[in-house]
Amino acid sequence: MSDFAELHYNGEIIKLPVVEGTENEKALDISKLRGQSGLITIDPGYKNTGSTRSAITFLDGEKGILRYRGYPIEQLAEKSTFLEVAYLIIFGKLPNKAELEEWTDDITHHTLIHEDFKVLLEGFPSNAHPMGVISSLVTSLTAFYPESLDPSSSPDEVRTSIVRLMAKLPTIAAWAYKNEIGQPLMYPKNNLDYCGNFLNMMFSTPAEPYSADPVVTNALTKLLILHAEHEQNCSTSTVRIVGSSHASLYASVSAGMNALWGPLHGGANQAVIEMLEAIKADGGDADKYLAKAKDKNDPFRLMGFGHRVYKNFDPRARIIKKAADDVLGKLGVSDPILDIAKKLEESALADPYFVERKLYPNVDFYSGIIYRALGIPTNMFTVMFAMGRLPGWVGQWKEMRENGEPIGRPRQVYTGENERNYVDMSNR
Ligand code: CMC
Repeated sequence: MSDFAELHYNGEIIKLPVVEGTENEKALDISKLRGQSGLITIDPGYKNTGSTRSAITFLDGEKGILRYRGYPIEQLAEKSTFLEVAYLIIFGKLPNKAELEEWTDDITHHTLIHEDFKVLLEGFPSNAHPMGVISSLVTSLTAFYPESLDPSSSPDEVRTSIVRLMAKLPTIAAWAYKNEIGQPLMYPKNNLDYCGNFLNMMFSTPAEPYSADPVVTNALTKLLILHAEHEQNCSTSTVRIVGSSHASLYASVSAGMNALWGPLHGGANQAVIEMLEAIKADGGDADKYLAKAKDKNDPFRLMGFGHRVYKNFDPRARIIKKAADDVLGKLGVSDPILDIAKKLEESALADPYFVERKLYPNVDFYSGIIYRALGIPTNMFTVMFAMGRLPGWVGQWKEMRENGEPIGRPRQVYTGENERNYVDMSNR
């Protein structure tokens, strides 16, 4: 096989090197193309553009494969814990016993947040969307830990910033929720594990202690693992591009959270439940909404369906669909919107519109139904996604810094006016 491709342009032959990944996927290196030919490439939405070489996640959308650092997602979801997976993603290897103990202990002992955060929280109206609150509070960490501002500091300093962020995000998220519903803020407890501690801060009150059902903590652990990393998606690319200007870890991750918030990305899990509720309120006619999704004059899309890279099935969705049945069964929850979701999926998968476009349920189609069964309010679903995705954002930011990647700065093809003279107000 040739190790370059030829581009014939204006009587010239330009040789473009072929780059090969460890799973034999091939790419054309166009980094010198403009210098060689005056041409740039155009690819709105980066549908066909590799922005980096990364050793973190391998994904084959045609075969439905997802691996973190080589380990299949199915095995990690079945056998691992969230903190172990986070270590794997961020530091590149499964931790041994001592490493995992140290990592867990460090995170457990950094969960408190500065008391002045309460003043910041009080400044938000109670109806503020928690995604806006948590992304603001993550940026605010820079004010409390100014040493985190220098991303070129020592590996130990970077590790401390990472530990703080991993440890404090559940506290920040639970406090955003408590502030919204007007309940006293609950402090972290060091005797609880990562998920148990978060659930306790969410659901206990000074009047009533909360003890998480192991079914709930296990389901939450699995969901966080399934969301932990997904290579160069919208929010992760945002983290890398913001970090490429040498912005700090907290500033970069906060930007990623805002990218995640949109309904085409992580905001889809909230949008799916709102869609299923709307279908239920409208008489439960799934076919009516399928017809709307297919109608090009109707802006309605089937939320939780379709994916930029999965064109056969989303392996995370398979695991989550099974987990939804298990969790609802074990908790004795019967949710009519699960039946609507299954009917929608069945009809869509038999419909030529969805088949031809390779549109399948994605990770968000069933995750909201599980979150709902666990008692998580709908507007916190994307916050749960953010907690899950945090190791991915951190690992990708760290890799980008360690690779010494250049500042992200795409080009464009200009389509505006040619040069023209300023027109005085009296002549407009
Ligand atoms: N409902 C109806 N039609 C759809 C849908 C949908 N959910 N998704 C894509 N299509 C159609 C689209 O109209 C287009 O049709 P045509 O070729 O006739 O113009 C075709 O399928 C290709 O769609 P696209 O928008 O070009 O594909 P994309 O890769 O740019 O977008 C997507 C991917 C995920 C944004 C899109 O499928 C979508 O909007 N899905 C609903 C939102 C959603 O569930 N997002 C969560 C993604 S998974 C979580 C995450 O990691 O972000």
